[in-house]
Amino acid sequence: MNTPTSLIILVGSVTQTAMHMAHAIELSCTDLVDGIQVRPMDGLDIRMFEGDALYLICSSTHGSGDVPENARALYESLGNEPRFLGHVHYGVMALGDSSYGETFCNGGLRFDERLADLGAVRIGDVFRHDACAGTEADVEGAVWCRKWLSTALAPRATA
Ligand SMILES: Cc1cc2nc3c(=O)[nH]c(=O)nc-3n(C[C@H](O)[C@H](O)[C@H](O)COP(=O)(O)O)c2cc1C
Repeated sequence: MNTPTSLIILVGSVTQTAMHMAHAIELSCTDLVDGIQVRPMDGLDIRMFEGDALYLICSSTHGSGDVPENARALYESLGNEPRFLGHVHYGVMALGDSSYGETFCNGGLRFDERLADLGAVRIGDVFRHDACAGTEADVEGAVWCRKWLSTALAPRATA
């Protein structure tokens, strides 16, 4: 397959921590890909994954381990309008707060589960940001993403 050279960052966020992180990534990773689009998830559905791009899910967690409200339509579309997404390569940046215990970072993890169920291929481990750890999501996230992109954009062996 051709290595995709554009990155689409899909952002699920309530209080904009995930959005700030996505914009920090956009600024710090421009030299690594041909283009970066930061897209709030509002109003999106599974058709978002039709393109030949690399996808990065950037989602916080709200409620009791739920995806943010602006991510709900996309998340539900992955369950209600399933189709094979074997062409999709994606990464996950999950934001949460470990004081919530078992639901820590569930928003991003829920997306990971749905995408994997549809045959999409996750690259690398899930990045987790813990709001109570005292670290800045945008700083940590940008560092992680540069490393992740070097793996994601490395030539892949064809099966
Ligand atoms: C009402 C509320 C509920 C939350 N529920 C969870 C949760 O169940 N699990 C979790 O890991 N974090 C939870 N969080 C923490 C947020 O995911 C975390 O603060 C995150 O950094 C917020 O990102 P955002 O500003 O992009 O929405 C919750 C936060 C709030 C305000």
